[in-house]
Amino acid sequence: MPRIAYLVGKGVSHSLSPPVYRAAFAAADIDAHYELLDVDEPDLPLAASALRAPDSLGGNVTMPYKCWATEVADDVDETVRACGAANLLVPGPSGLHAHNTDALAIAELLGTVRERISKGTVLLAGAGGAAAACAWALGRVPPRELIIAARRPEAGRALARSAAESSPSTVISVVELATVDTRTTPVDLVINATPLGMLTEDEDPLPSVAFSPSMLLYDLVYRRSGPTAIQIRAAAGGALVVDGIGHLFQQAMPTFRHLTGQEPPHDVMLAALVEVVGRQPALWSADTTRAPSDAD
Ligand SMILES: NC(=O)c1ccc[n+]([C@@H]2O[C@H](COP(=O)([O-])OP(=O)(O)OC[C@H]3O[C@@H](n4cnc5c(N)ncnc54)[C@H](OP(=O)(O)O)[C@@H]3O)[C@@H](O)[C@H]2O)c1
Repeated sequence: MPRIAYLVGKGVSHSLSPPVYRAAFAAADIDAHYELLDVDEPDLPLAASALRAPDSLGGNVTMPYKCWATEVADDVDETVRACGAANLLVPGPSGLHAHNTDALAIAELLGTVRERISKGTVLLAGAGGAAAACAWALGRVPPRELIIAARRPEAGRALARSAAESSPSTVISVVELATVDTRTTPVDLVINATPLGMLTEDEDPLPSVAFSPSMLLYDLVYRRSGPTAIQIRAAAGGALVVDGIGHLFQQAMPTFRHLTGQEPPHDVMLAALVEVVGRQPALWSADTTRAPSDAD
């Protein structure tokens, strides 16, 4: 019986995921399709039935249903408990299991630069689901200091409380996003977990941050048309960057493992993503603009 993997969300018709998973299933010799379930809220029970059906491998869940995914699941893992949101539902003998592969991907990539973070200061913009995934992941490489910059300080303070559970040794403070000024506080890692940068070329979540070669940027946002303003500034300043496309790629690795129980065909998935986006993902790269022909 051919199997189906899904993407459940709203307005997902431009998702980059289908070609990546289709290429991966073909390379791994798995007889499976990848289908988009673009659903309105009243149709979520139908999506849940599809995910639980015998031919289902499971599914990615994206905006605005990442909280719904935690509620419909029969079992949630540690990342989901810590973040309060899930982006993957996988059927098993005891029902639907919820995972947060954003958190796993961020932890994996932060782990590769642990030395640069663990004695340093992290500036985290945003206090929503992606920021919660970052806070959990930061607990794996606890920095000396974490500054949460939120549009609504009360949301920032709520995130600070859960970040303190993941990183008990870290000094955590909350500031208003619009007032961030890093001239007096040197920052080692900047994380953008707001949507700022997604809509227009010049939208910048942290315009006062001046990037230097000793710094890192992890920006969850991606634009199909090219790097965001903060990614361009970070790369120009010599900082190493993970962009939203790099993050998307990284979270596809644990997602594939959970869906299939197999190791992901990394190179095939990367080639499929590069083909659809037209450029290399930034995965701690200093150049965020590389075209496919520049690939190493
Ligand atoms: N590359 C990937 O694969 C990937 C994966 C996950 C997420 N993302 C991206 O990460 C971003 C955040 O996602 P999320 O799931 O965390 O969303 P979310 O739960 O809605 O949280 C968004 C956060 O950004 C803040 N925010 C929204 N608009 C803002 C604005 N105009 N100015 C200042 N702050 C603003 C929100 O503040 P309020 O609470 O005040 O609204 C909230 O703190 C999205 O752009 C999403 O596409 C990308």
